[in-house]
Amino acid sequence: MTTDDLTRQIRDLHAEATGALAAATDAGAVEGLRHDLLGRSGRLTAILRSLSTVPARERPAIGQLANGVRGELEEAIAQRLGELGGRDLEARLEAERLDMTAPGRPVRVGHLHPLMTVERDFREIFHAFGFEVFEGPEIETDEMNFEALNIPPDHPSRDLWDTLFIAEPGSDPPVPAADGTILRTHTSPVQIRAMRALEPPIRVIMPGRCFRYDAVDASHSFEFFQVEGLVVDETTSLADLKGTLIEFARALYGRDTRTRFRPGYYPFTEPSVAFDVGCLVCGGSGCPACRRTGWMTILGAGMVHPHVLRAGGIDPDRYQGYAFGMGLDRITMLRHEIPDLRLLMAADLRFLDQFAGGR
Ligand code: DAH
Repeated sequence: MTTDDLTRQIRDLHAEATGALAAATDAGAVEGLRHDLLGRSGRLTAILRSLSTVPARERPAIGQLANGVRGELEEAIAQRLGELGGRDLEARLEAERLDMTAPGRPVRVGHLHPLMTVERDFREIFHAFGFEVFEGPEIETDEMNFEALNIPPDHPSRDLWDTLFIAEPGSDPPVPAADGTILRTHTSPVQIRAMRALEPPIRVIMPGRCFRYDAVDASHSFEFFQVEGLVVDETTSLADLKGTLIEFARALYGRDTRTRFRPGYYPFTEPSVAFDVGCLVCGGSGCPACRRTGWMTILGAGMVHPHVLRAGGIDPDRYQGYAFGMGLDRITMLRHEIPDLRLLMAADLRFLDQFAGGR
C-alpha cells in the first residue's frame, strides 16, 4: 500500500466518521460508531495496523496523522454523547412533565341508596341500645312466614298479607310449590330464626326486603323494606317496649318528638299496639299527609305471643319478649319528601344522584 493511498483512506474515514457522528440521533448509534471505528477490529485500528506496510521513513508522518485522527474522533464521540445525553434528558423531561396546575380528574364514587341510609340509621340507633343485627332469607316457607307466627292455614288474618308464591316446578298453569316456599311478606319470620339460633337474653333487629302481591302505584309496591325487632328475656315487659320505642323515635326525629301508643291487632303479639309519632309533615296540626289526625303510624309492635315463643323453641313459662316491625320505605319518603314510592325502586340515576351526599 502506498503512502498516498493510506493518507487518503485516513482522511476519507475521518470525513465519513464526522458526518456519521453528526447524523447519529441517539447514544446507542454513537456507541456503534465508536465500535466500528476504534474498536479492536475497527476500521481506524486496521489502518494503524497496516502502517508496517509503508516504507519506514514515511511511517512517522502517517502514524502522526492516524493518531491525530483517532484522538479527534475520540473527542468528537465524547462530545456527541454529551450532546445527545443532554438532549435525551431534555426530551424525557418534556415528555414526562407533570402539570401541577392541571385540575384533578373527578373520581366517580358510589353512594348509598336513600333506603339503605335510613336502614343504617336504624342499625346505629339500635346498636346503641345493645341490639345485634340478625338476617334471614327472602324466600321463606309458609310455616315460618305464617304458621310459626300463630297464623294457621285458612285463618282470616292471612288476608293481611297478600302472598307471592313460588310456583311448583313444571306446573302449568303455575300452582304454589308443594314444599310451601313463598316470598316472605314481612320480616317477622326472622324472629323465629333468631329465637332458634340464639339463647335468651335475645336483643336483635332484623332488616330486609319483603314482597307482597300488591298492585304498584305511588304508595304501593310488590317489594319493600322492613326492620323487625325482637327482645326476649325473663322480665321483658310492655314498659320496656314503650321505653325503647319512644327513645328510638326521639333518636330518629329529635328529642321533642311526640309519640303515642294505640291498641292494635297482630296474630303474633298479645297485646298488640300501633306506635304513632306526631305528623312529620305538619307537626301535628293536621294535614292531608296525616289525614288531618296530626299523627303518623310508623310501626306495629306487641308482646310476643306464647305460641310464637314456643315455635322459636323458647319456654313461655320462663321467658317473655316484645317485638316490633316497621317499613323503611315510607320513613325514607317522608325524610326526603319523595312523592312516589316507585322512584325508590327504579334505579334511575337522575333520582339517585340527588342522594350522593348521604342523608
Ligand atoms: N309483620 C307486621 C307487618 O308486616 C309488622 C309487625 C307488627 C311486626 C307487630 C311485629 C309486630 O314484630 O310485633 O305488618
